[in-house]
Amino acid sequence: MTILKKIFLWMLLSSEDTCWDHIINKREQTEDLKIKNHNIKDSSCSLIPENQRFDCNPEDGASELACGARNCCWQFSEKINIPSCYYRLEWKVYDYENLTTLENGIDFSGFLKLNGYSTYYEDLPLVKIESTSIDDSTLRVKLYDPLKKRYEPPWPVRSEPKSFSGTTSYVLKINKSIPGFSVKRVSDGTTLYNSSGVGGFIFANQFLQMSALLPSHNIYGLGQHRANLKLSTNWKIFTFFNADQPVTENANLYGAQPFYFVIENTGKCHGVLFLNSNAMDVILQPTPAITFRTIGGVFDIYFFMGPTPADVMKQYSNFVGKPFLLPYWSLGFHLSRLGYRTLEETKEVWNRTRMAQIPFDTQWNDFDYMDRRNDFTYDQQKFKDLPQFIRELHAEGMHYIPLIDAGVSGTEKSGSYPPLDEGIRRGIFIKENGTDIPFQGKVWNPISTVWPDFTNPETEEYYKEMMEMAHKNFEFDGAWIDMNEPSNFYNGHINGCVENNLDNPQFVPHVVGRHLSRKTLCMNSKQFLGDHYDLHNTYGTGQAAATNYALAKIRRKRPFIISRSTWIGHGLYAGAWTGDAYSSWHSLRFSIPEILTYSFFQIPMVGVDICGFDGNVTIALCNRWVQVGAFYPFARNHNSDDTTEQDPVKMGELVVNSTRISLRIRYSLLPYLYTLFFRAHKFGETVARPLFFEFINDSTTHDIDSQFLWGSSLMIIPVLDEVADKNERVQAYIPRGKWYNFHTKEPIISCGKNMTLTAPIDTIPLLIRGGFILPMQKADLTTTASRKNHFELLIALNEENRAEGELYWDDGDSLDSIQERQFRWLKFTVENNTLQNKLIEDGLYDGKMTLGKIQIVGLEMKTVPRIMVNDNDIRKDQIIFNKELSYLRVESLYLNLKQNFTLSWMDS
Ligand code: NOJ
Repeated sequence: MTILKKIFLWMLLSSEDTCWDHIINKREQTEDLKIKNHNIKDSSCSLIPENQRFDCNPEDGASELACGARNCCWQFSEKINIPSCYYRLEWKVYDYENLTTLENGIDFSGFLKLNGYSTYYEDLPLVKIESTSIDDSTLRVKLYDPLKKRYEPPWPVRSEPKSFSGTTSYVLKINKSIPGFSVKRVSDGTTLYNSSGVGGFIFANQFLQMSALLPSHNIYGLGQHRANLKLSTNWKIFTFFNADQPVTENANLYGAQPFYFVIENTGKCHGVLFLNSNAMDVILQPTPAITFRTIGGVFDIYFFMGPTPADVMKQYSNFVGKPFLLPYWSLGFHLSRLGYRTLEETKEVWNRTRMAQIPFDTQWNDFDYMDRRNDFTYDQQKFKDLPQFIRELHAEGMHYIPLIDAGVSGTEKSGSYPPLDEGIRRGIFIKENGTDIPFQGKVWNPISTVWPDFTNPETEEYYKEMMEMAHKNFEFDGAWIDMNEPSNFYNGHINGCVENNLDNPQFVPHVVGRHLSRKTLCMNSKQFLGDHYDLHNTYGTGQAAATNYALAKIRRKRPFIISRSTWIGHGLYAGAWTGDAYSSWHSLRFSIPEILTYSFFQIPMVGVDICGFDGNVTIALCNRWVQVGAFYPFARNHNSDDTTEQDPVKMGELVVNSTRISLRIRYSLLPYLYTLFFRAHKFGETVARPLFFEFINDSTTHDIDSQFLWGSSLMIIPVLDEVADKNERVQAYIPRGKWYNFHTKEPIISCGKNMTLTAPIDTIPLLIRGGFILPMQKADLTTTASRKNHFELLIALNEENRAEGELYWDDGDSLDSIQERQFRWLKFTVENNTLQNKLIEDGLYDGKMTLGKIQIVGLEMKTVPRIMVNDNDIRKDQIIFNKELSYLRVESLYLNLKQNFTLSWMDS
């Protein structure tokens, strides 16, 4: 190869990053070989290593013939998933034209003009590409049809971004000779995303594809799927198409969150959102590389530059919306099941749980409470006294949540069922294609089901009125929204869907059953904002937004909603549970990456059905599940009607004991947990947190998904398998630093190592991290009661004898606590043997806030210390000191937390 040619090739590339080396080599070789024809087995093809193949024939049954027709390489691979038909290096059907730099000097726009045929119908003749620097750390790249408006998702609600003209932490480059672009981190030159000449860029009407090289194998997110926290890059296909699909591996599940998070090899992190709600496959391959393959919409890609995990989350939350501020009571324990057939059965479980002195806040009912399984009704026989029961719950400081299915009954006598009559009158149901008739399917309702169209602006008011009507009859406190993928018992209609290009696109992503309308609506049904085909994945979030609006208006308190289906930006309106989990150790194990992955999506209020939904749970499994379930952000025990009862009391003494112990710990830590949720709401921080969020430079943490943190300071190390259960021991990785056993207060000093911790049959191992202060309250049987107890501080000193922590407090339920400054937000610090409080932000909340007790772990002193509060000695009998354990407890303090105080200790 001549020097000139080499220089030319070098100029083709817009980065000198090492990730590009193999591409450079491939191009050099291609140039040298001077390939003239497109022989599918030409030697340039054989020069592409297996892990750098990009699939050119993603449909089933790729053949040499079909591959040739696509002008791709064919090299049969026996290894499953490695494509036999793959793109050649120079493959392209578009050419750049008119690339111009925009006024701010950093953004650009240009066009890609079609110059070939992708083999997918209706290649766009012209594609516009546009970059917008939203701010120094957020970049958007959009590719769309400049000639005709195509569908774009209505959620998250967003305004057209304004372009920024300051210095950015990224640089975007285009190689004019081949479609694609690259994004590079300025500070260290890492190329984060490079799609220039990678795979085959296609923009056809129902087939959009873009591949890109990624900077590392540390990739997370891409939910909802059952997988390890760190995703496999071994040719894994993640399909996004919301479905009523019990949780299993390799399946599209209830939610779609096409957002991924990467830890680069330097430890810096970034996130990427592919804002497209059509049915989609995302493929991770070992190059490492990613491919987005979707069947509609546009390419709308957002890069969030971090560089810390918390920065990525904050930047992402600025775009998708921050999680709702939840009511305090929702952090209590929730009890539910399908199959409490009567109010009496419901009460029986409620009673026995309370009698067992199990902390418990919210009683739930599945559709059993409804009249003929119709939304917004209750069964006047079997649940006759429901309104009274709810009043009783309220008098006890407890709450009630009923299930609301997405669809409403579609066949009722006219005038007998307002949700149907009103919906028809207002024309807010999803419609049959080309008609004004509501699309009919069937879910739990007696004869048929129709679905409110949450993209219709009239639906919000309709939904509010229907909920208000129901609320007048029984005063529920929140909503459990279900079957909102939306799920349907038919595949479309009773007779399926008529032949059309939306239900039968040329390419169908790897949805379970390989059929889009399977267990949902026909894709050609019509919504206000377009075809269900496009909007399908947003349905659950639409319902969550309308429910949130309705609850806020009706109750004038904070709405609390738990949804099965989710889409981008969902956390602004609601939390989620992960759907139907089988009662197995396997499900228990995967519940940790499942909840942690939702944290990335800004849905911190998430839980898995404690003890599992399907299948009968064993005592041993349920015993360990209740222990970790107490540390799911959303802690609810729920199961199916065809399984044995699994509420703690029914499971027997062992489970009752474990539930009580773990929930008491949860309840005692609620001020800490609530503060974390406040920070999630304010800053987009995570609540349940992977270890690597706190220890990013310790690469061992990058793979850990069997332990997790609450915030920065509490590590939860659950027992997740039968061996650990039997041995009452669990292996854990303890990152560098000083930690303390929560139960025994013993210190653990780690330089970053695996350790074995004891896990007695009724106890979950928990570690507190040195350097932090956790606000607590003595646990009571409801959050309403425990909120009234005095505050306590658990202070865990680090090696420098310092610690800090925070408390956010308000009345726990008012809608506008933050806007009206009805809160107290305090910081605690320990330095020079003195604990102090400071205001973080001034607030007006005037409820009592008394500090009754402090505990200090890691306090090394020779004698029982002398303690002074605001320079006055306190009584000796208030002080308990264990020298061996370096543990101090100071009791009977009555310090007003709203006033500044100091508490110091010294040798006596
Ligand atoms: C499906 C949900 O996943 C499950 O939790 C619920 O019990 C049933 N629907 C019945 O409503």
